[in-house]
Amino acid sequence: MVQMDEKSIKIGWRAPSNIALIKYWGKRANQLPENGSLSITLENSSTTTYLSIRKKEKADGEIGMKYYFHGVQNQKFGKKIDQLLNLLQSEMPFLYDYKLVFHSENNFPHSAGIASSASSMAAVALCLVSMEQIVTRRKLVKAEFFQRASVIARLGSGSASRSIFGGIVTWGTIASIEGSSDLYATPFPLHELSRLKHAGDIILIVNAREKKVSSSLGHAMMAAHPYREGRKNQANSNLNELTKAISEDNYHLIAKIAENEALSLHALLMTSSSGTILLQPNTLQIIEEIKKFRESTGLDIFFTIDAGPNVHLIYFENQREMVHQFVRDKLVCYCENGQWIDDKIGSGPKLLTPEIEF
Ligand code: PMV
Repeated sequence: MVQMDEKSIKIGWRAPSNIALIKYWGKRANQLPENGSLSITLENSSTTTYLSIRKKEKADGEIGMKYYFHGVQNQKFGKKIDQLLNLLQSEMPFLYDYKLVFHSENNFPHSAGIASSASSMAAVALCLVSMEQIVTRRKLVKAEFFQRASVIARLGSGSASRSIFGGIVTWGTIASIEGSSDLYATPFPLHELSRLKHAGDIILIVNAREKKVSSSLGHAMMAAHPYREGRKNQANSNLNELTKAISEDNYHLIAKIAENEALSLHALLMTSSSGTILLQPNTLQIIEEIKKFRESTGLDIFFTIDAGPNVHLIYFENQREMVHQFVRDKLVCYCENGQWIDDKIGSGPKLLTPEIEF
């Protein structure tokens, strides 16, 4: 364990992004989800965060925090971290006794249209739980450590709760998944031969600019959405079917449900009071090309889309060469500046400061 008489302590975590196959859309108070969700944790798209803590000489009744992103103080994200720290006031009272400085970097292009809140909030949450262990000298067993990090990450950004674990991850109380909860995410076990263990994800960047609707606004719009109840039922039933399909390695069903979820998310956006359209003509072209290619080759590929115009093309590693050729031949032309990211299913967060035990 690190000695607390050291002047300043540095804690570092790298946390991955994730892409949901069952979309969390709509929330209740305290960042609790209206429906269960399921995602693939990514390997390459991640956020690295270092937290330096230094004990204040005198407590001043405030939580002192600075947040730097790629070396520059970042007001926008710093504000979100401030909100998170305020929520944690009573749960982590030691926050008042330290000066906190976060330094974060994303390893995916800054403006790639990939939501970074999941990986960023997950990295921040892991740093905070490590800090808690050090300053309270209360060591959690690993499973408890990650569960607590998932709870804290959820308070920052719902989807971040899933980025605490590798592989396939669910979040939300789901009758068929033992130990599942609305409070934290749970890793979903894959059997030895599951092809999803070797899932690849090609992220096709149709538009790299920030999306027009923040997910917070999107969740809020679900409260008065005419399809609100229908959506909850659809998502929970899709989630039940998908977990069965994954356990049975039923690729056709996995593809059908994932694509239905992506299109449903956008249908909900379009039919919300704001009439938001995030899909772009090139998004639809890519979808058409993927369907055509699948029909003509019989390859096990499918798409999913987040709350934006970019398309994730999911495939299995043994099809890598053909799929990459297809991307170069048919899809790159629809990507902004030909941009796409080669990613795959990942193993979860990594501690970057091994001298900090956890
Ligand atoms: O975690 P938030 O509040 O940014 O919401 C994420 C919502 C989606 O990305 C559209 C779906 C999901 O489950 O990740």
